[in-house]
Formats: sequence, structure tokens, C-alpha cells
Amino acid sequence: EPTIKVALLGFGTVGSGVYQMLTENKSKITQKKQVDFEICKILVGNRTKHQAAIEKGVPITTDFSEILNDPTIQIVVEVMGSAETAREYIIHSLEAGKHVVTANKDALALYGDELTRVAKENNKNLFFEASVAGGIPIIRALTDSFIADSIQEVSGIINGTTNFIISRMSEEGESYEQALALAQEKGFAEADPTGDVEGLDAARKLIILVKLAFGYRMKLDDFPVSGITQLKQHDFDAAKHYGFTLKLIGSAKQLEEGFTARVGMYLVPLAHPLAMVKNEYNGVFVKGEAIGETMFYGPGAGSLPTANSVVADILAISDRIKWQQTESFLPLVSNDYSWHQAGT
Ligand code: NDP
Ligand code: HSE
Repeated sequence: EPTIKVALLGFGTVGSGVYQMLTENKSKITQKKQVDFEICKILVGNRTKHQAAIEKGVPITTDFSEILNDPTIQIVVEVMGSAETAREYIIHSLEAGKHVVTANKDALALYGDELTRVAKENNKNLFFEASVAGGIPIIRALTDSFIADSIQEVSGIINGTTNFIISRMSEEGESYEQALALAQEKGFAEADPTGDVEGLDAARKLIILVKLAFGYRMKLDDFPVSGITQLKQHDFDAAKHYGFTLKLIGSAKQLEEGFTARVGMYLVPLAHPLAMVKNEYNGVFVKGEAIGETMFYGPGAGSLPTANSVVADILAISDRIKWQQTESFLPLVSNDYSWHQAGT
């Protein structure tokens, strides 16, 4: 089988999940896809933290140039977080002729246009399924399945940490602080959870969804964003009394009178499908002119669910590499997966 060499930038919650899936499921993947993978370098910030892994033979490095300057590495997987360094490393990787998979919504929300442009200029793929709603294939749905439709609404619970906190507060009677600490322990929260609890993580994901669904280029200042920091136990009791629950929702709608987007707390009727989305799970409601109403549900954060989306992107790119090598008609650069050019 041909071997595709992969490098990971990051070996935390998501990176270790990707490593686990690609190593433990190696023979299954090879059998299904007729391609073998080798993770030949993993970039981390602090080598000492990974001593146990190094002793087991995990190829840890702290030097990005080892990855950049290795022409045999075909796919770089950016799962380290932070917008600025990630932007830089993604651009350098694309310019060095490598395809890139990223889970980084912060970098995409800020620099999505630039990163996509650089990918196209270098005839490379930039895939980012894990960047919104972790394990749910919502990016593929919007850029592939719904491509011929006119989307009217995308609304969803798109932050696992806050939904986890909301669920624990409303159902287990836990305090906000206890629930946040548990979300951090389970690896759902960002390194700095301020972005989660203030609604900014959901807002960045909404920016990506809006670009793909409607073609509009939004910035964080363009729409109202609020989080869950003011929530108190009695808010849930009051909502429940009237037949509702409270959820943090990112919503974008194309109405006749114009386009609207917002991230904030919504009162959701207890019988509504979004009310059933609990813990770190996400739910995304998509309404299209042709398709009507659809609902996507699944884990929005966590090591293996997120890794599953990252690995799916790696496999999609490897299919294209393989087909190109066999001179098939399948284009190397995906047309269906790109950042739409329409809108402002
Ligand atoms: P972690 O904090 O768990 O891991 C980050 C990894 O990247 C660590 O191994 C860290 O090194 C390394 N790293 C960070 N900065 C640098 C740097 N400047 N140079 C070299 N290595 C660096 O993050 P997660 O795995 O949770 O998240 C990774 C990305 O995936 C983020 O963009 C996040 O938003 C996104 N994501 C996360 C999800 C989740 O459930 N956690 C779900 C969906 C997306 P070291 O180990 O030495 O500290
Ligand atoms: N911190 C994010 C969340 C990770 O809780 O949803 C997934 O993007």
C-alpha cells in the first residue's frame, strides 16, 4: 500500500485522539482505503510533558522546521490552538506543498479567507470538519450535501463546554464553578475557557457556518454575542416552571427583510429537539428552501469524537493524493469543500 506521511501540530486532547485513532485503527483504515499512514512527527510546546510518550516511541519534536523542511510529509494536522501561531504554521505548511487539516475555529474565523486563498494558490487542500461541532459532520453537510439549496437558517448549540455547564446546573444542581471545572477536566473547554463561557467560541463557529451556508463574511463585532457567565440556578427553575429550558444558541437567518445573526441565551420549549441536546453534545438545525428542516446531533467536543472528524479529513485528502497519483479525474483540490466566494 502507498504510505502517506502525516505530521501533527499538537499532542493534547485532540492530537492524542488523532494519534490513537490512526495507530489503533491502522489495519482497518488500510484495508478500507488501501492506503497506509505514518505519523512521522508531532510538534509540542513542552517536550518534558511528553516524556512517557517519547519513551514509547512517539516521534515528539519542538522544532516546526523539522516538519516544514521534510518534503516527504504530505499532510500537516494543526491541532494546537491559538489563532496567530496556527495561521503562520498553516500558511508555511501550504506554501511548502503540504495539505492541511485543522480543528482551529479561532484561526478560521479570523483568517479563513486568507488561509483558503493560500491553499488555492498552492493547489493544496485545507480541510476543517472538526472546527465546528466537533464530531458532527456539519461542514461536509453545508459544503456538499446542501450545496444546491438556498439555506434560510442555521441555528445550533455549538459549544460543548457551555452546554455541559448548563446541563449540570439544570439537571444535577451543580454550581457554575463545579461544572466548569469538570468540563475543563474532561478536555471540552479551551485552554482559556473565557472564550467558551462568554459565547465567543460559539460566535467564531457561527462565523464559519455563516460563511459556508450564506457566503457572508462576518466579524465578531458585526453581531450580538453573550454567554452564560450571568446564569444562576434560579434561572433554570423559572424557565422550567413555564415549560422551557435555557440554551446557548448561535443563530443566523436569511429573512426577507435582511440577514440576522446572534449568539446568546434562548428559552427553548422542553419539547423542541434542541432542548434534548445535553452535556457536551451539540445540535445544529439547518433549514433550506428545498430540503426543509434538518437537525444534526452529536458530540461537539472531546478527544475521540473530534479526532474522528480530523481523521475523516486526513482520509479525504489521502483519497485525493492517491487518485492524483493514479491520474484519475478526481481533482486534487476540492471544489465542494472550499470557502464560498459569494457575499461580503
Ligand atoms: P490542548 O491544549 O489539549 O493541546 C494543545 C497541544 O498543542 C499541546 O500538545 C501543546 O503542547 C501544543 N501547542 C500549543 N501551542 C503550541 C506552540 N506554539 N508550539 C508547539 N506546540 C504547541 O488543545 P486541544 O487538543 O483541546 O485543542 C486543539 C485545537 O482543537 C484547538 O484549536 C481547539 O479549539 C480545537 N478543538 C478542540 C476540541 C476539544 O474537544 N478539545 C474540539 C474541537 C476543536 P504541550 O503539550 O507541550 O503543551
Ligand atoms: N471548547 C469547545 C467546546 C471545543 O466546548 O465546544 C470544541 O470546539
